[in-house]
Amino acid sequence: MGSTRQIELKSPADLERMRRAGQLAAQVLDAVGRAVVPGVTTKELDRLAEKFIRDAGGVPTFLGYRGYTASICASINEEVVHGIPHPKRVLREGDIVGIDVGATLGGFVGDTAATFPVGRISLEAEKLLQTTRDALTEGIAATRAGNRLGDISGAMQRVAESRGYAVVRDFVGHGIGRNMHEEPSVPNYGTAGTGPRLDVGLVVALEPMVNAGTWRVQVLKDGWTVVTEDNRLSAHFEHTVAVTEGGPEILTCLPNS
Ligand code: MF3
Ligand code: CO
Ligand code: CO
Repeated sequence: MGSTRQIELKSPADLERMRRAGQLAAQVLDAVGRAVVPGVTTKELDRLAEKFIRDAGGVPTFLGYRGYTASICASINEEVVHGIPHPKRVLREGDIVGIDVGATLGGFVGDTAATFPVGRISLEAEKLLQTTRDALTEGIAATRAGNRLGDISGAMQRVAESRGYAVVRDFVGHGIGRNMHEEPSVPNYGTAGTGPRLDVGLVVALEPMVNAGTWRVQVLKDGWTVVTEDNRLSAHFEHTVAVTEGGPEILTCLPNS
């Protein structure tokens, strides 16, 4: 058993199981995304996700994690991450909602998130979503053997800041495997050419959190919900990505997408 303080590389057999867990998480995120419409509650989305995961023989990774009481996070507008689903929290036309899904299957975890529009949204919100998606895409492109961790972080930061947005400092991406959170931490800001070298077998969850205004955030009194300090919009996208001989492999992509 490797210590969680060091970076554990996955074997080809581990990776095969991580593909399955990743696929399940991706399918759940897709299903929840389709259910995002004006009038739905975040608790209804949570129920859908939990049933999907269990029907597939998996376990919702978040449920019970450090006392968390749901299977997804649902973070609306100025909420950055870790919004707790609630039966009274109704999505409204024009909102954006970040959905984060963790699925454990065959002993490994898949972790993926996306921010969805609720009905029609403002151009301003569209641009924030596109930028956060692009930051993730650039981070994934840098997730290659021989690169350094700072290449990933720097790429994501550059995309966001070059378009006038800010990246959250207080929450980061992470290594992932048998546990949702493993070494190394993967900040969404940093300097290319610095940090540990990326080797084949490394699996990381990249998750840029991009704010329209300040990068500063606060945690609400519920102990979980992270909000922007200035109450402006925030978006979050996440994929679980493996470093392979052939380059980055997104484990939380749907087949044919
Ligand atoms: N999935 C989140 C992450 O991307 C962590 C959620 S913790 C929970 O790292 F307790 F809210 F589930
Ligand atoms: Co996540
Ligand atoms: Co994560």
